[in-house]
Amino acid sequence: MRFETFSKGMAALDVDCLALGIFEEGELTEEARAIDSACGGRLKKLLRHGDFAGKPADTLLLADLPGIAATRIVLTGLGPKKSFGRKVWRKAWSTVVGALSKTRIESVALAITRPDAKDLDDYYFGRAVAEIGATGLYRINDLKSGKKPRAAPLERVLVGPLAKGAAATVNRGLAHGAAIAEACKVHRDLANLPGNVCTPVFLAEETRALAKRYRSLRVRVLDERAIRREKMGCLLAVSQGSAQPPRFIIIEHAGSGKAGQSAHPVVIVGKGVTFDTGGISIKPPAGMDEMKFDMSGAAATIATLTLAAALDLPLRIVGLVAAVENMPDGKAVKPGDIATSASGQTVEILNTDAEGRLILCDALHYARRFQPAAVVDIATLTGACVVALGHQHSGAMGNDQALVTELVEAGMRADDRAWPLPLTEEHAEPLKSNFADFANVGGREGGAITAAAFLGKFTQGMKWAHLDVAGTAFQGGAQKGSTGRPTPLLADFLIRRAGL
Ligand code: BES
Ligand code: MN
Ligand code: ZN
Repeated sequence: MRFETFSKGMAALDVDCLALGIFEEGELTEEARAIDSACGGRLKKLLRHGDFAGKPADTLLLADLPGIAATRIVLTGLGPKKSFGRKVWRKAWSTVVGALSKTRIESVALAITRPDAKDLDDYYFGRAVAEIGATGLYRINDLKSGKKPRAAPLERVLVGPLAKGAAATVNRGLAHGAAIAEACKVHRDLANLPGNVCTPVFLAEETRALAKRYRSLRVRVLDERAIRREKMGCLLAVSQGSAQPPRFIIIEHAGSGKAGQSAHPVVIVGKGVTFDTGGISIKPPAGMDEMKFDMSGAAATIATLTLAAALDLPLRIVGLVAAVENMPDGKAVKPGDIATSASGQTVEILNTDAEGRLILCDALHYARRFQPAAVVDIATLTGACVVALGHQHSGAMGNDQALVTELVEAGMRADDRAWPLPLTEEHAEPLKSNFADFANVGGREGGAITAAAFLGKFTQGMKWAHLDVAGTAFQGGAQKGSTGRPTPLLADFLIRRAGL
Protein backbone atom coordinates (compact mmCIF):
# COMPACT_ATOMS: atom_id res chain seq x y z
CA MET A 1 0.00 0.00 0.00
CA ARG A 2 1.29 3.46 -0.94
CA PHE A 3 0.41 6.57 1.01
CA GLU A 4 0.38 10.19 -0.12
CA THR A 5 -0.98 13.39 1.37
CA PHE A 6 -3.14 16.16 -0.08
CA SER A 7 -4.14 19.56 1.20
CA LYS A 8 -6.97 20.81 -1.03
CA GLY A 9 -9.11 20.21 -4.09
CA MET A 10 -10.88 17.13 -2.76
CA ALA A 11 -13.56 17.13 -5.45
CA ALA A 12 -10.95 17.10 -8.23
CA LEU A 13 -8.68 14.35 -6.82
CA ASP A 14 -7.82 11.68 -9.34
CA VAL A 15 -8.84 8.63 -7.28
CA ASP A 16 -11.38 5.83 -7.59
CA CYS A 17 -13.05 6.65 -4.32
CA LEU A 18 -13.48 9.34 -1.69
CA ALA A 19 -14.13 8.33 1.94
CA LEU A 20 -16.28 10.68 4.01
CA GLY A 21 -17.47 10.48 7.62
CA ILE A 22 -21.10 11.20 8.53
CA PHE A 23 -22.32 11.84 12.09
CA GLU A 24 -25.42 10.12 13.40
CA GLU A 25 -27.45 13.35 13.46
CA GLY A 26 -26.88 13.71 9.72
CA GLU A 27 -25.05 16.99 10.24
CA LEU A 28 -22.36 17.17 7.60
CA THR A 29 -18.70 17.26 8.53
CA GLU A 30 -16.59 20.01 6.99
CA GLU A 31 -15.23 17.62 4.36
CA ALA A 32 -18.69 16.29 3.52
CA ARG A 33 -19.99 19.85 3.19
CA ALA A 34 -17.30 20.68 0.65
CA ILE A 35 -18.23 17.63 -1.41
CA ASP A 36 -21.93 18.37 -1.04
CA SER A 37 -21.54 21.82 -2.57
CA ALA A 38 -19.31 20.44 -5.34
CA CYS A 39 -22.08 18.03 -6.36
CA GLY A 40 -24.91 20.51 -6.10
CA GLY A 41 -26.34 19.36 -2.77
CA ARG A 42 -26.83 15.74 -3.81
CA LEU A 43 -25.24 14.37 -0.67
CA LYS A 44 -27.56 16.29 1.64
CA LYS A 45 -30.56 15.24 -0.43
CA LEU A 46 -29.56 11.64 -0.21
CA LEU A 47 -29.13 11.80 3.55
CA ARG A 48 -32.57 13.35 3.87
CA HIS A 49 -34.02 10.08 2.53
CA GLY A 50 -32.77 8.56 5.77
CA ASP A 51 -31.02 5.57 4.19
CA PHE A 52 -27.78 6.19 6.03
CA ALA A 53 -27.98 6.48 9.80
CA GLY A 54 -24.31 7.32 10.42
CA LYS A 55 -23.85 4.64 13.05
CA PRO A 56 -20.27 3.45 13.64
CA ALA A 57 -19.43 0.54 11.30
CA ASP A 58 -22.16 1.59 8.81
CA THR A 59 -20.97 2.20 5.26
CA LEU A 60 -22.69 3.20 2.03
CA LEU A 61 -21.14 3.23 -1.43
CA LEU A 62 -22.36 5.90 -3.88
CA ALA A 63 -21.42 6.16 -7.54
CA ASP A 64 -20.99 8.91 -10.12
CA LEU A 65 -21.92 12.04 -8.20
CA PRO A 66 -21.80 15.03 -10.57
CA GLY A 67 -18.91 17.45 -10.10
CA ILE A 68 -16.73 14.90 -8.31
CA ALA A 69 -13.72 13.37 -10.07
CA ALA A 70 -13.78 10.22 -7.94
CA THR A 71 -16.23 7.73 -9.44
CA ARG A 72 -17.31 6.45 -6.02
CA ILE A 73 -17.89 7.90 -2.59
CA VAL A 74 -17.96 5.74 0.49
CA LEU A 75 -19.78 7.10 3.53
CA THR A 76 -18.79 5.81 6.93
CA GLY A 77 -20.71 6.35 10.17
CA LEU A 78 -19.11 8.37 12.96
CA GLY A 79 -21.88 7.94 15.56
CA PRO A 80 -23.06 10.84 17.73
CA LYS A 81 -20.87 13.93 17.45
CA LYS A 82 -20.41 14.25 21.22
CA SER A 83 -18.83 10.82 21.61
CA PHE A 84 -16.62 11.08 18.52
CA GLY A 85 -12.95 10.41 19.19
CA ARG A 86 -9.99 8.28 18.28
CA LYS A 87 -11.73 4.98 18.92
CA VAL A 88 -14.68 5.75 16.63
CA TRP A 89 -12.37 7.20 14.00
CA ARG A 90 -10.25 4.01 14.02
CA LYS A 91 -13.40 1.95 13.62
CA ALA A 92 -14.64 4.18 10.77
CA TRP A 93 -11.38 3.90 8.82
CA SER A 94 -11.02 0.15 9.33
CA THR A 95 -14.64 -0.30 8.24
CA VAL A 96 -13.90 1.63 5.04
CA VAL A 97 -10.86 -0.55 4.33
CA GLY A 98 -12.95 -3.66 4.97
CA ALA A 99 -15.72 -2.44 2.65
CA LEU A 100 -13.36 -1.36 -0.13
CA SER A 101 -11.44 -4.62 0.02
CA LYS A 102 -14.55 -6.27 -1.41
CA THR A 103 -14.64 -3.91 -4.42
CA ARG A 104 -12.39 -3.26 -7.42
CA ILE A 105 -11.39 0.15 -6.04
CA GLU A 106 -7.64 0.73 -6.31
CA SER A 107 -7.22 4.17 -4.81
CA VAL A 108 -9.00 6.06 -2.07
CA ALA A 109 -8.80 9.60 -0.72
CA LEU A 110 -9.28 9.44 3.02
CA ALA A 111 -11.25 12.56 4.00
CA ILE A 112 -12.93 11.23 7.15
CA THR A 113 -13.07 13.96 9.81
CA ARG A 114 -10.24 13.56 12.30
CA PRO A 115 -10.46 13.53 16.09
CA ASP A 116 -8.87 16.62 17.59
CA ALA A 117 -5.12 16.75 17.96
CA LYS A 118 -5.15 16.09 21.72
CA ASP A 119 -6.73 12.72 20.99
CA LEU A 120 -4.71 11.91 17.88
CA ASP A 121 -1.88 14.21 16.79
CA ASP A 122 -0.48 14.44 13.25
CA TYR A 123 2.17 11.77 13.81
CA TYR A 124 -0.13 9.18 15.38
CA PHE A 125 -2.82 10.05 12.85
CA GLY A 126 -0.44 9.15 10.02
CA ARG A 127 0.63 6.04 11.85
CA ALA A 128 -2.92 4.86 12.46
CA VAL A 129 -3.95 5.52 8.84
CA ALA A 130 -1.14 3.32 7.53
CA GLU A 131 -1.33 0.67 10.23
CA ILE A 132 -5.11 0.23 9.97
CA GLY A 133 -5.00 0.47 6.16
CA ALA A 134 -2.41 -2.24 5.64
CA THR A 135 -3.67 -4.44 8.49
CA GLY A 136 -7.18 -4.24 7.06
CA LEU A 137 -6.01 -6.02 3.92
CA TYR A 138 -4.22 -8.80 5.83
CA ARG A 139 -5.36 -12.23 4.71
CA ILE A 140 -4.60 -15.21 6.88
CA ASN A 141 -1.83 -17.44 5.49
CA ASP A 142 -4.07 -20.50 5.38
CA LEU A 143 -3.23 -23.84 3.82
CA LYS A 144 -6.57 -24.29 2.07
CA SER A 145 -6.22 -26.26 -1.16
CA GLY A 146 -8.80 -24.34 -3.21
CA LYS A 147 -8.09 -21.40 -5.47
CA LYS A 148 -6.99 -18.34 -3.50
CA PRO A 149 -9.51 -15.50 -3.73
CA ARG A 150 -8.33 -12.52 -5.72
CA ALA A 151 -6.35 -10.07 -3.56
CA ALA A 152 -8.01 -6.71 -2.96
CA PRO A 153 -6.63 -4.20 -5.50
CA LEU A 154 -6.73 -1.27 -3.03
CA GLU A 155 -3.19 0.04 -3.32
CA ARG A 156 -3.07 3.81 -3.01
CA VAL A 157 -4.30 5.96 -0.13
CA LEU A 158 -4.37 9.76 -0.23
CA VAL A 159 -4.63 11.36 3.19
CA GLY A 160 -6.06 14.81 3.87
CA PRO A 161 -7.05 17.52 3.59
CA LEU A 162 -4.03 18.45 5.71
CA ALA A 163 -3.45 21.78 7.40
CA LYS A 164 -0.47 23.83 6.26
CA GLY A 165 2.84 22.44 7.55
CA ALA A 166 1.36 19.11 8.73
CA ALA A 167 2.50 16.99 5.78
CA ALA A 168 6.01 16.20 7.03
CA THR A 169 4.80 14.91 10.40
CA VAL A 170 1.91 12.97 8.88
CA ASN A 171 4.28 11.41 6.34
CA ARG A 172 6.64 10.31 9.11
CA GLY A 173 3.67 8.70 10.85
CA LEU A 174 2.59 7.03 7.60
CA ALA A 175 6.06 5.54 7.08
CA HIS A 176 6.22 4.22 10.63
CA GLY A 177 2.66 2.89 10.47
CA ALA A 178 3.40 1.02 7.25
CA ALA A 179 6.50 -0.53 8.84
CA ILE A 180 4.53 -1.56 11.93
CA ALA A 181 1.87 -3.18 9.76
CA GLU A 182 4.58 -5.03 7.86
CA ALA A 183 6.08 -6.26 11.15
CA CYS A 184 2.64 -7.38 12.34
CA LYS A 185 2.31 -9.40 9.13
CA VAL A 186 5.65 -11.09 9.81
CA HIS A 187 4.49 -11.84 13.35
CA ARG A 188 1.03 -13.13 12.38
CA ASP A 189 2.24 -15.24 9.45
CA LEU A 190 4.65 -17.04 11.79
CA ALA A 191 2.17 -17.46 14.62
CA ASN A 192 -0.68 -18.67 12.41
CA LEU A 193 1.34 -21.59 11.05
CA PRO A 194 0.48 -25.02 12.45
CA GLY A 195 2.81 -26.69 14.93
CA ASN A 196 3.84 -29.38 12.46
CA VAL A 197 5.20 -26.71 10.11
CA CYS A 198 6.44 -24.12 12.57
CA THR A 199 8.92 -26.17 14.60
CA PRO A 200 11.94 -24.76 16.47
CA VAL A 201 14.20 -25.56 13.49
CA PHE A 202 11.74 -23.90 11.10
CA LEU A 203 11.59 -20.81 13.31
CA ALA A 204 15.38 -20.53 13.23
CA GLU A 205 15.50 -20.96 9.43
CA GLU A 206 12.74 -18.39 8.93
CA THR A 207 14.57 -15.93 11.13
CA ARG A 208 17.69 -16.36 9.00
CA ALA A 209 15.68 -15.87 5.81
CA LEU A 210 13.97 -12.74 7.12
CA ALA A 211 17.23 -11.24 8.37
CA LYS A 212 18.83 -11.65 4.92
CA ARG A 213 16.58 -8.82 3.72
CA TYR A 214 18.19 -6.33 6.11
CA ARG A 215 21.76 -5.15 6.22
CA SER A 216 21.67 -4.31 9.94
CA LEU A 217 20.56 -7.76 11.17
CA ARG A 218 22.85 -10.61 12.24
CA VAL A 219 21.52 -14.02 13.25
CA ARG A 220 23.16 -16.77 15.26
CA VAL A 221 21.46 -20.04 16.04
CA LEU A 222 22.45 -22.41 18.84
CA ASP A 223 21.62 -26.05 18.16
CA GLU A 224 21.08 -28.64 20.88
CA ARG A 225 24.80 -29.18 21.45
CA ALA A 226 25.52 -25.48 21.74
CA ILE A 227 22.54 -25.09 24.07
CA ARG A 228 23.98 -27.84 26.23
CA ARG A 229 27.33 -26.01 26.27
CA GLU A 230 25.47 -22.98 27.61
CA LYS A 231 24.16 -25.26 30.40
CA MET A 232 20.55 -24.30 29.72
CA GLY A 233 19.25 -27.23 31.77
CA CYS A 234 15.74 -25.86 32.24
CA LEU A 235 15.23 -25.22 28.52
CA LEU A 236 16.55 -28.71 27.75
CA ALA A 237 14.25 -30.27 30.38
CA VAL A 238 11.24 -28.91 28.47
CA SER A 239 12.60 -29.96 25.12
CA GLN A 240 13.70 -33.50 26.05
CA GLY A 241 10.26 -35.04 25.51
CA SER A 242 10.01 -33.82 21.94
CA ALA A 243 11.21 -35.38 18.70
CA GLN A 244 11.85 -31.82 17.50
CA PRO A 245 15.28 -30.52 18.53
CA PRO A 246 15.38 -27.12 20.28
CA ARG A 247 16.95 -23.96 18.91
CA PHE A 248 18.17 -20.80 20.61
CA ILE A 249 18.04 -17.84 18.22
CA ILE A 250 20.02 -14.62 18.61
CA ILE A 251 19.13 -11.69 16.32
CA GLU A 252 21.09 -8.47 16.52
CA HIS A 253 20.26 -5.08 15.06
CA ALA A 254 23.09 -2.56 14.99
CA GLY A 255 21.58 0.79 14.02
CA SER A 256 23.55 3.52 12.35
CA GLY A 257 25.43 6.07 14.43
CA LYS A 258 26.99 5.78 17.83
CA ALA A 259 23.87 4.47 19.56
CA GLY A 260 23.81 1.57 17.12
CA GLN A 261 27.12 0.38 18.61
CA SER A 262 26.04 0.94 22.21
CA ALA A 263 27.65 -1.32 24.80
CA HIS A 264 24.23 -1.57 26.47
CA PRO A 265 21.58 -2.84 24.05
CA VAL A 266 17.88 -3.28 24.60
CA VAL A 267 17.29 -7.04 24.78
CA ILE A 268 13.94 -8.54 23.79
CA VAL A 269 13.34 -12.13 24.84
CA GLY A 270 10.55 -14.22 23.28
CA LYS A 271 8.88 -17.43 24.41
CA GLY A 272 8.97 -19.77 21.43
CA VAL A 273 7.05 -22.88 22.43
CA THR A 274 6.04 -24.03 18.96
CA PHE A 275 3.45 -26.33 20.51
CA ASP A 276 2.49 -26.70 24.17
CA THR A 277 0.70 -29.94 24.99
CA GLY A 278 1.51 -29.39 28.66
CA GLY A 279 3.91 -32.35 28.58
CA ILE A 280 3.29 -35.07 31.19
CA SER A 281 1.01 -32.57 33.01
CA ILE A 282 -0.99 -32.77 29.81
CA LYS A 283 -3.66 -30.22 28.92
CA PRO A 284 -7.32 -31.15 28.33
CA PRO A 285 -8.19 -31.54 24.63
CA ALA A 286 -10.63 -28.59 24.31
CA GLY A 287 -8.85 -25.75 22.54
CA MET A 288 -5.45 -27.40 22.73
CA ASP A 289 -4.85 -26.53 19.06
CA GLU A 290 -4.52 -22.90 20.18
CA MET A 291 -1.24 -23.82 21.83
CA LYS A 292 0.35 -23.49 18.39
CA PHE A 293 0.22 -19.78 19.25
CA ASP A 294 2.51 -20.41 22.24
CA MET A 295 5.40 -19.05 20.16
CA SER A 296 3.77 -15.63 19.83
CA GLY A 297 6.44 -14.02 22.03
CA ALA A 298 9.07 -15.37 19.64
CA ALA A 299 7.09 -14.08 16.64
CA ALA A 300 6.86 -10.62 18.24
CA THR A 301 10.60 -10.63 18.95
CA ILE A 302 11.55 -11.59 15.40
CA ALA A 303 9.03 -9.14 13.89
CA THR A 304 10.21 -6.30 16.11
CA LEU A 305 13.82 -6.82 15.06
CA THR A 306 12.80 -6.66 11.39
CA LEU A 307 10.96 -3.43 12.17
CA ALA A 308 14.03 -1.97 13.88
CA ALA A 309 16.01 -2.80 10.75
CA ALA A 310 13.36 -1.46 8.34
CA LEU A 311 13.27 1.88 10.16
CA ASP A 312 17.01 1.78 10.80
CA LEU A 313 16.40 2.68 14.43
CA PRO A 314 19.55 4.28 15.83
CA LEU A 315 19.75 1.73 18.65
CA ARG A 316 21.42 -1.56 19.36
CA ILE A 317 18.77 -4.22 19.91
CA VAL A 318 19.24 -7.90 20.62
CA GLY A 319 16.44 -10.43 20.20
CA LEU A 320 16.65 -13.79 21.97
CA VAL A 321 14.26 -16.61 21.14
CA ALA A 322 14.06 -19.86 23.06
CA ALA A 323 12.36 -22.28 20.68
CA VAL A 324 11.15 -25.69 21.90
CA GLU A 325 8.20 -28.04 21.68
CA ASN A 326 6.56 -29.29 24.91
CA MET A 327 5.49 -32.94 24.56
CA PRO A 328 4.68 -35.97 26.73
CA ASP A 329 6.96 -38.92 26.00
CA GLY A 330 8.95 -41.72 27.58
CA LYS A 331 11.86 -39.32 27.70
CA ALA A 332 9.83 -36.33 28.86
CA VAL A 333 10.56 -34.47 32.07
CA LYS A 334 8.30 -35.60 34.95
CA PRO A 335 6.74 -33.78 37.91
CA GLY A 336 9.30 -33.75 40.69
CA ASP A 337 12.31 -33.80 38.36
CA ILE A 338 14.94 -31.20 39.17
CA ALA A 339 16.76 -29.23 36.48
CA THR A 340 19.75 -26.93 36.81
CA SER A 341 19.33 -23.62 35.03
CA ALA A 342 22.13 -21.81 33.18
CA SER A 343 22.37 -19.48 36.16
CA GLY A 344 23.22 -22.48 38.38
CA GLN A 345 19.99 -22.21 40.34
CA THR A 346 18.04 -25.47 40.59
CA VAL A 347 14.33 -25.85 39.83
CA GLU A 348 11.91 -28.54 40.93
CA ILE A 349 9.54 -29.01 37.99
CA LEU A 350 6.24 -29.71 39.74
CA ASN A 351 4.13 -29.05 36.68
CA THR A 352 5.50 -29.65 33.20
CA ASP A 353 2.84 -27.32 31.77
CA ALA A 354 4.60 -24.36 33.40
CA GLU A 355 7.27 -24.69 30.70
CA GLY A 356 7.40 -21.09 29.48
CA ARG A 357 9.20 -19.85 32.59
CA LEU A 358 11.67 -22.74 32.29
CA ILE A 359 12.84 -21.76 28.84
CA LEU A 360 12.69 -18.03 29.63
CA CYS A 361 14.83 -18.33 32.76
CA ASP A 362 17.70 -19.66 30.68
CA ALA A 363 17.13 -17.06 27.95
CA LEU A 364 17.02 -14.23 30.51
CA HIS A 365 20.26 -15.47 32.01
CA TYR A 366 21.79 -15.43 28.51
CA ALA A 367 20.72 -11.75 28.21
CA ARG A 368 23.07 -10.84 31.07
CA ARG A 369 26.20 -11.09 28.92
CA PHE A 370 25.00 -8.12 26.85
CA GLN A 371 24.96 -5.81 29.91
CA PRO A 372 21.58 -4.64 28.68
CA ALA A 373 20.13 -1.16 29.16
CA ALA A 374 16.80 -2.97 29.50
CA VAL A 375 15.45 -6.50 29.09
CA VAL A 376 11.85 -7.09 28.03
CA ASP A 377 10.45 -10.59 27.75
CA ILE A 378 7.30 -11.42 25.81
CA ALA A 379 5.39 -14.60 26.58
CA THR A 380 2.02 -16.30 26.37
CA LEU A 381 2.86 -17.33 29.89
CA THR A 382 -0.23 -17.94 32.00
CA GLY A 383 -3.93 -18.67 31.75
CA ALA A 384 -4.10 -16.78 35.06
CA CYS A 385 -3.23 -13.55 33.24
CA VAL A 386 -6.25 -14.07 30.98
CA VAL A 387 -8.43 -14.60 34.07
CA ALA A 388 -7.03 -11.43 35.67
CA LEU A 389 -7.08 -9.05 32.69
CA GLY A 390 -9.16 -10.62 29.91
CA HIS A 391 -8.33 -10.08 26.27
CA GLN A 392 -7.93 -6.28 26.11
CA HIS A 393 -4.75 -5.79 28.11
CA SER A 394 -1.47 -7.65 28.26
CA GLY A 395 -0.06 -7.97 31.77
CA ALA A 396 3.03 -5.87 32.54
CA MET A 397 5.36 -6.65 35.42
CA GLY A 398 9.02 -6.21 36.24
CA ASN A 399 11.69 -5.15 38.70
CA ASP A 400 11.97 -1.60 37.36
CA GLN A 401 8.83 0.50 37.67
CA ALA A 402 10.04 3.11 35.19
CA LEU A 403 10.51 0.44 32.52
CA VAL A 404 7.07 -1.09 33.22
CA THR A 405 5.50 2.38 32.96
CA GLU A 406 7.41 3.05 29.72
CA LEU A 407 5.87 -0.10 28.21
CA VAL A 408 2.37 0.62 29.50
CA GLU A 409 2.52 4.12 28.01
CA ALA A 410 3.86 2.78 24.71
CA GLY A 411 0.87 0.43 24.64
CA MET A 412 -1.56 3.30 25.15
CA ARG A 413 -0.07 5.36 22.33
CA ALA A 414 0.04 2.34 20.04
CA ASP A 415 -3.53 1.25 20.87
CA ASP A 416 -2.03 -2.07 21.99
CA ARG A 417 -2.61 -1.78 25.69
CA ALA A 418 -0.92 -3.40 28.66
CA TRP A 419 -1.78 -3.03 32.33
CA PRO A 420 0.56 -3.24 35.32
CA LEU A 421 0.29 -6.03 37.88
CA PRO A 422 2.20 -5.80 41.16
CA LEU A 423 5.41 -7.72 41.67
CA THR A 424 7.28 -7.79 44.97
CA GLU A 425 9.71 -10.13 46.73
CA GLU A 426 6.84 -11.80 48.65
CA HIS A 427 5.25 -12.96 45.41
CA ALA A 428 8.01 -15.56 45.13
CA GLU A 429 7.06 -17.23 48.44
CA PRO A 430 4.71 -19.83 46.89
CA LEU A 431 7.70 -21.07 44.85
CA LYS A 432 9.46 -22.52 47.91
CA SER A 433 10.65 -26.11 47.44
CA ASN A 434 12.06 -28.67 49.89
CA PHE A 435 14.26 -30.16 47.19
CA ALA A 436 15.54 -27.38 44.93
CA ASP A 437 16.15 -23.62 45.01
CA PHE A 438 12.55 -23.17 43.94
CA ALA A 439 9.63 -24.92 42.30
CA ASN A 440 8.34 -23.87 38.89
CA VAL A 441 4.78 -23.34 40.15
CA GLY A 442 3.08 -21.86 43.21
CA GLY A 443 -0.64 -22.12 43.91
CA ARG A 444 -3.51 -21.07 41.69
CA GLU A 445 -3.83 -17.63 43.23
CA GLY A 446 -2.15 -14.74 41.44
CA GLY A 447 -0.67 -17.16 38.91
CA ALA A 448 0.45 -14.49 36.44
CA ILE A 449 2.41 -12.77 39.20
CA THR A 450 3.94 -15.98 40.59
CA ALA A 451 5.20 -16.78 37.09
CA ALA A 452 6.77 -13.32 36.86
CA ALA A 453 8.26 -13.76 40.35
CA PHE A 454 9.93 -16.93 39.08
CA LEU A 455 11.49 -15.00 36.17
CA GLY A 456 12.53 -12.31 38.65
CA LYS A 457 14.91 -14.85 40.23
CA PHE A 458 16.94 -14.77 37.03
CA THR A 459 16.94 -11.03 36.26
CA GLN A 460 18.37 -9.57 39.44
CA GLY A 461 20.62 -6.61 38.72
CA MET A 462 19.19 -6.05 35.24
CA LYS A 463 16.39 -3.59 34.39
CA TRP A 464 13.73 -6.08 33.41
CA ALA A 465 10.07 -6.09 32.43
CA HIS A 466 7.79 -8.94 31.43
CA LEU A 467 4.72 -8.83 29.19
CA ASP A 468 2.27 -11.71 29.61
CA VAL A 469 0.37 -11.79 26.32
CA ALA A 470 -1.60 -15.02 26.88
CA GLY A 471 -4.88 -13.11 26.55
CA THR A 472 -3.93 -10.73 23.74
CA ALA A 473 -1.63 -12.52 21.28
CA PHE A 474 -4.35 -14.52 19.57
CA GLN A 475 -8.10 -14.83 19.24
CA GLY A 476 -10.12 -18.00 19.53
CA GLY A 477 -13.52 -18.92 18.12
CA ALA A 478 -14.71 -17.90 14.66
CA GLN A 479 -12.01 -15.20 14.46
CA LYS A 480 -9.26 -17.64 15.45
CA GLY A 481 -5.85 -16.30 14.57
CA SER A 482 -2.85 -14.31 15.68
CA THR A 483 -3.47 -10.63 16.50
CA GLY A 484 0.16 -9.56 16.07
CA ARG A 485 0.16 -8.12 19.59
CA PRO A 486 2.32 -6.85 21.27
CA THR A 487 4.37 -5.93 18.19
CA PRO A 488 2.80 -2.43 17.92
CA LEU A 489 3.55 -1.79 21.61
CA LEU A 490 7.17 -2.88 21.21
CA ALA A 491 7.48 -0.76 18.06
CA ASP A 492 6.32 2.34 19.92
CA PHE A 493 8.63 1.57 22.84
CA LEU A 494 11.67 1.35 20.54
CA ILE A 495 10.73 4.26 18.26
CA ARG A 496 10.47 6.44 21.39
CA ARG A 497 13.77 5.17 22.77
CA ALA A 498 15.32 5.97 19.40
CA GLY A 499 13.95 9.51 19.69
CA LEU A 500 12.35 9.31 16.24
N1 BES B 1 1.04 -21.55 27.29
C1 BES B 1 0.39 -21.68 28.53
C2 BES B 1 -0.37 -20.42 28.95
C3 BES B 1 -1.54 -20.01 28.11
C4 BES B 1 -2.82 -20.34 28.49
C5 BES B 1 -1.35 -19.25 26.99
C6 BES B 1 -3.89 -19.92 27.73
C7 BES B 1 -2.42 -18.84 26.22
C8 BES B 1 -3.69 -19.16 26.61
C9 BES B 1 1.42 -21.96 29.62
O1 BES B 1 2.52 -22.70 29.23
C10 BES B 1 0.72 -22.77 30.66
O2 BES B 1 0.34 -23.86 30.38
N2 BES B 1 0.58 -22.20 31.86
C11 BES B 1 -0.05 -22.87 32.93
C12 BES B 1 0.73 -22.58 34.18
C13 BES B 1 0.27 -23.39 35.37
C14 BES B 1 0.61 -24.85 35.16
C15 BES B 1 0.97 -22.86 36.60
C16 BES B 1 -1.47 -22.32 33.04
O3 BES B 1 -1.67 -21.13 32.82
O4 BES B 1 -2.37 -23.09 33.31
MN1 MN C 1 2.20 -24.77 29.33
ZN1 ZN D 1 3.04 -22.56 27.26
